[in-house]
Amino acid sequence: MRIERLTIRNYRNYASADVTPGGGVNLFVGNNAQGKTNLLESIYLASVGRSARTPRWQELIKWNESEALVRVVVKKDVGRDGVEIRLDREKRVAINGLPVTRIGELMGVLKTVLFSPDELRIVKEGPGERRRFVDIALCQLSKAYFYALTRYNKILAQRNKLLKNNPTDDALTVWDMQLAREGARVIKTRRGFVGRLSPLAEAVHRDITGSETLTLGYEGIAGESAEEIETNFMAALVKSRARDRMFMLTHVGPQRDDLAIAADGIDLRSYGSQGQQRSAALSLKLAEMELLKAESGEYPVLLLDDVLSELDSYRQTKLLSHIKAYQTIITCTSVPDDVREKLGDITEFSVTAGSVGLIK
Ligand SMILES: Nc1ncnc2c1ncn2[C@@H]1O[C@H](COP(=O)(O)OP(=O)(O)OP(=O)(O)O)[C@@H](O)[C@H]1O
Ligand SMILES: [Mg+2]
Repeated sequence: MRIERLTIRNYRNYASADVTPGGGVNLFVGNNAQGKTNLLESIYLASVGRSARTPRWQELIKWNESEALVRVVVKKDVGRDGVEIRLDREKRVAINGLPVTRIGELMGVLKTVLFSPDELRIVKEGPGERRRFVDIALCQLSKAYFYALTRYNKILAQRNKLLKNNPTDDALTVWDMQLAREGARVIKTRRGFVGRLSPLAEAVHRDITGSETLTLGYEGIAGESAEEIETNFMAALVKSRARDRMFMLTHVGPQRDDLAIAADGIDLRSYGSQGQQRSAALSLKLAEMELLKAESGEYPVLLLDDVLSELDSYRQTKLLSHIKAYQTIITCTSVPDDVREKLGDITEFSVTAGSVGLIK
C-alpha cells in the first residue's frame, strides 16, 4: 500500500499542508525544528490512532487553534481508503467518510512501520519498548488482537485496583480467571508472531552483518496452546498472590513479558555492543516490513525519521538496498552526496517552518 495524498490542518507547527508523495523513496529535507517529525507523526497518527511521541493528542493541535485535521488517502493493490482524524474536544476517526466509534477499526487500514532514533534503542531499552514493538505490529495485522489486548489491560487495571482494597481470596479468584483467559490469548498471539518474525529477522540480519545469526524468543508464561498458557497463568497468579497483595500490583502476565534478542547465542539486550544493538533494531524493523507483507499481502509504508544520520555508511547502504521495494518516507536535515547516489530515483520535498514544498 502507499500514501497517495496527505492533508493536514492546524497540526503541530503546520497551518496547512498538502503532500502528494511518490510511490518509492520520498525525502523530506529541512533544518532542525521545521516540522519534519511532525509530518511523519501525522502519518503515524492516521495509521495507529496515536502519536509515537506523546500519549496526549491535545498536544498535536496547533497552538492557539481549537481543531486539527489529518487526512490520508491510501492506495491499495485494489482500491483506495480514506482515513480522517479530527482532533478538537475529542479524537474523532472516520474511514471512507464514515465515523468509527471503536479505534480498533482503524487498525490495518494504513499500515506503517516507524523507525526513528527512539526505535534504534529498542534492543537496549527496557522490555516495555520491545513489547510495544510487538503489539503495534500485531494490532495492525489483527483487529481481534487489538481488542483482546484492550480487554486484558482493562481487566488488569481492575485487578490492580481491587488489590488496593484488601479483597477476599474468592473475589480475587474471579478476576484471576478472567485475567488468565484473556492474557492467554495475548501471549499465544505474541508468541506466534515472534516465532514467525524470527526466521525473517535472521535472514535480514545475516545480510546486514554478513555473519551473525539472530534469534528471537518470547519470554513469558510457558505454553503452546491457549488452554495450556491459561492453566500456567492461573498457577502463576496463585503463586504470586501474597506478593501481589503486599505490593498491590499484579506481578505476572503479558504486561511483564519480553522479547529475547540474541546474536550467535549472546543476549544483545545486556551484552550487545552499541553497533550490534543498532543492527539488530534495523533487522527487526525490516523483518517487520516483510512479515506484514507476507501476512497482509501488501507492504506497509516505511517511515524513517532521521535515522540515516544515525547509521554508519555500511548500514545505510544495507538499509537503502531494502527500501527500494516499498514506499518510504524519509526525513533528514541534509543528504550527503554518497547517500543521494545510493538512493537513486527519489521524490524530494523541503520542509521549512511548517510548510512543505516539492523540490523534484
Ligand atoms: N502543538 C504545536 N503547535 C505549534 N508548534 C508546535 C506544536 N508542537 C510542536 N511544535 C513545534 O514544531 C516544531 C517542529 O518540530 P519537529 O519535531 O517536527 O521538528 P523537526 O523538523 O523534526 O526537527 P529536528 O531536525 O530537530 O528533528 C518545533 O520547534 C515545535 O516547537
Ligand atoms: Mg525531527
